[in-house]
Amino acid sequence: MVEQRDPAVKLDRGFWIVTAVLAVLSICGIIFWYAVPLQHWLPESAQPADQVDALFAFMAATSTALFVFVCGYILYFSIAFRARSTDAPDAIGVQIHDNHKLEFWWALIPALFVILLSVLSVKIWWGIQIAQPNNGMVLEAIGHQWFYTFRYPNVKGEVPDEMHLALGVPVTLHVTSSDVIHSFWVPTMRLKADMVPGLINTIRFTPSAVGTYKIICTEFCGTQHGEMNKQTVVIQSKADFDKWYQATQAAHANMSDALATVSTGAINLAGGDAAAGQQLFSQKCSACHAVGPFSQRIVGPGLKGVLDDPAHPNLVDGDKATPADVAKILQNGFKGDLGVMPNQAQNGLSDKDIANLVAYLASLK
Ligand code: CUA
Repeated sequence: MVEQRDPAVKLDRGFWIVTAVLAVLSICGIIFWYAVPLQHWLPESAQPADQVDALFAFMAATSTALFVFVCGYILYFSIAFRARSTDAPDAIGVQIHDNHKLEFWWALIPALFVILLSVLSVKIWWGIQIAQPNNGMVLEAIGHQWFYTFRYPNVKGEVPDEMHLALGVPVTLHVTSSDVIHSFWVPTMRLKADMVPGLINTIRFTPSAVGTYKIICTEFCGTQHGEMNKQTVVIQSKADFDKWYQATQAAHANMSDALATVSTGAINLAGGDAAAGQQLFSQKCSACHAVGPFSQRIVGPGLKGVLDDPAHPNLVDGDKATPADVAKILQNGFKGDLGVMPNQAQNGLSDKDIANLVAYLASLK
């Protein structure tokens, strides 16, 4: 028969002293999370951020208290009830089970706590994702391999590189993708949404601090995924934003915003505008193609002199590089060893866009 310790061991004075010490440590921990200047290290740039931060502080404070008590008691009990030199070599600990009162409370308290956290989280999430559209601006952000574009009401085509926003004007942002799953994350706004092809996710916020803030893709989306942290949100005063908006409207006046379909047959390349083509190239092509010699490869080859260089190899479709053949590849897309070049429809190119791009490529000598 194995010898057992006395099962009648009660919680002694040492236990209550430890409990008091842990309570004091917990309170210090809670005070820390509410006193620490969180926004100093994690700046905020949009309205729901303060609610998200308040939730974060609440979770961090309560978790700290929980952590202190759990670790404190583990330490205390493992010291207080350690094996003694006077114990028999095969002695085992006190065999305690079935304390219904204790089990009731340690089930109920965490359950209530988790329910409280859920209610607080859903409340904030509801405001960001579900609440009725407000009367502010409605924008679209579209993920591509490997950049973002933005669509504005009454601005033709897409705006690359920077998402301009006006301070204090509420934004309803629809996010989606043109190819694979990306993620739209602006850390200073505490907002993140998956960009999924064929699905529109909506987030709502109000810009609250003038400045330039990073957008980061947090979904692995191909070989250049790591490049998708170069684009920014630019929050401006209403007056500065209006100036930018009008300038962009004018600059985009001749762009197409039709979501083009793949044309059948040859595209009429007459009247292609190289300047418009250059702007399109920086939006649609430059993530994968350098304006450099053929050997300067990103995902696809460098395109400088593609129509002009007698030494330039044949195109991926095996044909000589003529304007018509370049247009054909832009129409149909291509699957290379490092990635896929989307076809005309997936790339959102009109026939005129292709004519402009070919005119631009022809101008690269
Ligand atoms: Cu886009 Cu990762």
